[in-house]
Amino acid sequence: MAAPQPTDDPSTGGPQSDGANRSADLLAKADLFSGVDRVTLAKLAANLDPVSFAKDEAACKQGEVGDSLYLVSEGTFGVFISSESDPRLVRVATFGRGACFGEMALLTGEPRSATVLSDGAGELLRLDHERFQELVRKDPGIGLALSASLSRRLRTASQNIKESDAAVRRQVDRQLASVPASLRSRILQASLLDESDAAALRALFGDETAEVAEQLTAFGAVKGKLPPPIARALSEALVKEAGAEGVRAFVHDAIEPLAKAGSWRNALTLAGTYADGPAVAALLARALRGADKLSSELAAPWLTRLSDEAAADDAVLAVERAAVHSQQGAPEAALRLLRRALPLAHTRSDPTAIALIEAAVTRHTEVAGAIERAKPRESPRLAILWSNLRANPSRFAAVTLSILLIIAAIFTSPFSKAGAFVLLLGGAIALWIVAILPEFVVYLGLVISWVFLGIAKPAQAVAGFGSTSWISILAILAIASALSASGLVYRLGLMLIRRLPQGLFAQGAACMGSGLGLTLMVPSSTARTRLILPTALAAAQSQRFKDRSPESAFLGLAAFIGASPLLYIFLNGSSSNFLGLGLIPEASRARFDLAYWFVAAAPLALFTAIGSLGILWVILRPGKTEQMSHQRIDLQLSLLGPLSAREISMAVILALMVIGFNVGPSVGISTGVVGLASLVAAALVGCFNRQSLQALNWDFLISYGVILSLPPIISALGIDATIAHALGGLLGGAQFSPLVFVLAIAVLNLAVRLLLPDDQTLLLLSIILIPVAPVFGVHPWVVVITLLATFTLWLLPTQTSSYAVAYEASEGRLFTQGQARKACIGFIAVTLVGLVAVFPYWRWLKLIGPTP
Ligand code: CMP
Repeated sequence: MAAPQPTDDPSTGGPQSDGANRSADLLAKADLFSGVDRVTLAKLAANLDPVSFAKDEAACKQGEVGDSLYLVSEGTFGVFISSESDPRLVRVATFGRGACFGEMALLTGEPRSATVLSDGAGELLRLDHERFQELVRKDPGIGLALSASLSRRLRTASQNIKESDAAVRRQVDRQLASVPASLRSRILQASLLDESDAAALRALFGDETAEVAEQLTAFGAVKGKLPPPIARALSEALVKEAGAEGVRAFVHDAIEPLAKAGSWRNALTLAGTYADGPAVAALLARALRGADKLSSELAAPWLTRLSDEAAADDAVLAVERAAVHSQQGAPEAALRLLRRALPLAHTRSDPTAIALIEAAVTRHTEVAGAIERAKPRESPRLAILWSNLRANPSRFAAVTLSILLIIAAIFTSPFSKAGAFVLLLGGAIALWIVAILPEFVVYLGLVISWVFLGIAKPAQAVAGFGSTSWISILAILAIASALSASGLVYRLGLMLIRRLPQGLFAQGAACMGSGLGLTLMVPSSTARTRLILPTALAAAQSQRFKDRSPESAFLGLAAFIGASPLLYIFLNGSSSNFLGLGLIPEASRARFDLAYWFVAAAPLALFTAIGSLGILWVILRPGKTEQMSHQRIDLQLSLLGPLSAREISMAVILALMVIGFNVGPSVGISTGVVGLASLVAAALVGCFNRQSLQALNWDFLISYGVILSLPPIISALGIDATIAHALGGLLGGAQFSPLVFVLAIAVLNLAVRLLLPDDQTLLLLSIILIPVAPVFGVHPWVVVITLLATFTLWLLPTQTSSYAVAYEASEGRLFTQGQARKACIGFIAVTLVGLVAVFPYWRWLKLIGPTP
């Protein structure tokens, strides 16, 4: 086994050990992975478990269920096959370094086709079934490589069969020479039988049965069955001696006596090779009737070979073949066949046949009906919606409410555009709560109804799509996808674990810190979570922490909190940040470029980060840790190789984009232009293409365009002023301190988030609260940041998609839902304290206090 070689110098970050280099070389050169790019390969390596073997130890056993694929990394392994007639293991192949096996069971779902034993001390890299499937799905090249390797194996196996058949033939010829002449032709004829049982032999050879059976045993027959190579050699000798015509004549004469003796399998085997279709069908029909009839199970292979046309002619055949169709999951085919057979039975006026077929029709109709009901329907979207609604009363209520609100909006619009706008928004919210339609559909529905009811002009309704913010977010999403395609982000994650400090608290801080750092590059909390959580899992595993132990949970939850709930630290960190910013009136938005956003938001984020770490430590009480092994990380880094030109280009593009976003506007270059230039540059260096463009989150981009159109429409309708006036009056003006107002926003947000998804909560509460904020001396941005800081919650496992991703990406092995829930409560508490703590700072930034 390649011993882990931890280096003393973690600062280099590059390929670290000989073992890792050797394994990387192995993976890169393995046939199976020849078409796979290096980033995918490095990700794959995280899922390869090295397993050591002693001499003669089995990696897999013939006949067992297979759940993994193996790649030989050290030593050689022999492939052995045994058979029913010969249980000894025969070596059919030998695998050396770089070879891959175990794919057959994974691809076919059948048991292992061979036993694989280690020739000496050896090591395999094991890939489990799920990852294998995922890999084959993602990378069609792997499927091709596998079929090439299977074809090679098949060719070698055929060649081997040919060679061993030749040897068997020579041996059989020698043995035949000693068989008494009178028995010789009998032995050759018996070789054509599927099973030379006593009944069959007696039917064919009468008094000679005992001698023939004895001779067959001498040729290796076990329970009347000859080993296939010997049977092949004997029947070849028969053809040579009797000629094709002679064989045909024997078969022709043999079928009837065999059938009479009830030796149906033999009769059918002979008929199947030498008789025509109708004759076989007729024989099969007889075999399925009568006293010693052939069981349906044994008849299945012949029934499968039969055509529906041949089967329809006979009621029993039709019914039995229909049953085979049904077992193969095609009850419609069964019904088609039976409906074809029924009129034929009527023409023959055969009441038994008619009754038999009719009974089968009833049976299969029920089966087909049940399958049909269980099938996911391919019906139009509206039909699915309708059945969805009928099944779920709360959804039904929400949709009814939404329709009523829309109707009310139609009637209100001639008198009050603002009223109609609010009613429509209410209708949309009802639909968002039940999540019955994709978000963008509801947003586009809003656009249509604004225009239709004269609430906004068409150009106003879609103005958001032309805004700088929309173009910037398009560019940011594109650059994030390009960064990840270049492998740079993945490399940073690996380098992070490679350099993780020894103490657990410091490791948690590093995991959290790297999530926070990625916020600048990856503008999606879900994507960051997907990147960081496997890293935390790898760190936990390399220190052999138990699954869901306090230590694992500490690393996992620290990583998650850094990657997702603190998304507001950089403006770039989430589309929700842009959404919030888009909802702030134009004038107040102006000063929030990337840098100023960070200056204003970082203290709260950092306070919450440090506080959460402390709380996690207290809640989870992790214990002592061990020295960690870097073997796998080194392997992954080796596979990535040195920094590629694309990674360097993307790092430069990212840096220029961040600088451009901050400096551009002051020298007259719009951030939109900076964004588009970065996107074009990413495309030019080959990290962004048509597919990546299509893969962008268009659901969000479309929704976001509509959201950006909202603030001007709201102002034009005077809704903000009305809300400010009404709420201001209601709450008694400035009698509340700004701090109480901000804490109330947080608490309100926590409550609404139990009902609404994050972005919709942000939208709704911003629309209501931003207009009143100045009344309390609070800048609209503070409203937005408070909402953002308290909207990633995971009290319920489905409350936030990034939490679900965290749980899934950690394979459920880092933390339990219970541990996470406690962490969430801790996080909320720390955030509320944080809001109080940063208040003086925001006051100093003039974000709190009388509006200038
Ligand atoms: P599987 O059937 O999953 O498990 C045993 C593995 O041995 C099988 O996949 C192949 O990878 C390999 N194997 C089986 N038969 C042969 C053969 N004739 N030649 C080479 N490899 C084989």
